Amino acid sequence: MSRKAEYAVEIEDLTVKYGDHVALEDISLQIPRGAFVAIVGPNGAGKSTLIKTILGLVRPASGKVLVLGEPLERLDPVRVGYVPQFKTLDRSFPALAEELVVSGLRRAWPGRITRKEREKALTALERVGAAHLAGRPVSRFSGGELQRVYLARAFVRQPELVVLDEPATGIDVLGEADMYRLLEGYQKQSGATLLMITHDWEAAYHHASHVIVLNRRLIGFGPPERALSERCLREAFGHVGHAHTVALEFVRGKHV
Ligand SMILES: Nc1ncnc2c1ncn2[C@@H]1O[C@H](COP(=O)(O)OP(=O)(O)OP(=O)(O)O)[C@@H](O)[C@H]1O
Ligand SMILES: [Mg+2]
Repeated sequence: MSRKAEYAVEIEDLTVKYGDHVALEDISLQIPRGAFVAIVGPNGAGKSTLIKTILGLVRPASGKVLVLGEPLERLDPVRVGYVPQFKTLDRSFPALAEELVVSGLRRAWPGRITRKEREKALTALERVGAAHLAGRPVSRFSGGELQRVYLARAFVRQPELVVLDEPATGIDVLGEADMYRLLEGYQKQSGATLLMITHDWEAAYHHASHVIVLNRRLIGFGPPERALSERCLREAFGHVGHAHTVALEFVRGKHV
């Protein structure tokens, strides 16, 4: 057993650059274990860059990053699950849902899956309310069904930290609400830490335990009712467009 660190993610004075472009500047934050964290901010704010840095896919220009108590070069990747922003699946891909889930247990595509692997895949699919999809071809799934299978794939190894890039994209509003509830339930059941990028402030408000408001710099971090304040949102999003006005009204309604 690895030693249990108090924080799932510890970031100190992090700056990330792409050439001369500063994508993240002087970020410091500590995410407690077991938190369900939503990251919000406008396009180009550095949200994906932040999670890519945590996954070790992007190197910091400066600063310190510890994940599950370890520096990235020492971290066992098995401890972290990743649900990429879902966009590309070749619809002619001849896989069954259970095979896609088992591929999360192995590095290579499973030729033939063992009984034990199938059991694990079924348990993971059950957790996301998708046991009935196990033996069906993924090529015919709707966006929401496929997203559940990808969640099961990330959860099958029982990671301590799960990172999700805009998991609700392409899912209808009803499916979206379901998915946030499901993530919240999974977090409570497993004790894992979840870190998710979302454009849905209302979902963040209702389901997350912590919210990161980002726009190159860290503008707010804390419980939703503190981080999703009008001041933080105005600072992050600058000029307030229609969607933001609606969202600000929502936030005001909750705070005034
Ligand atoms: N590989 C790259 N090379 C150069 N610049 C990059 C690269 N990746 C991101 N950037 C730039 O860094 C900034 C942050 O990008 P990032 O993708 O982290 O933003 P984001 O908050 O995830 O945006 P979105 O909401 O559009 O997904 C942007 O200005 C982007 O153009
Ligand atoms: Mg992004």
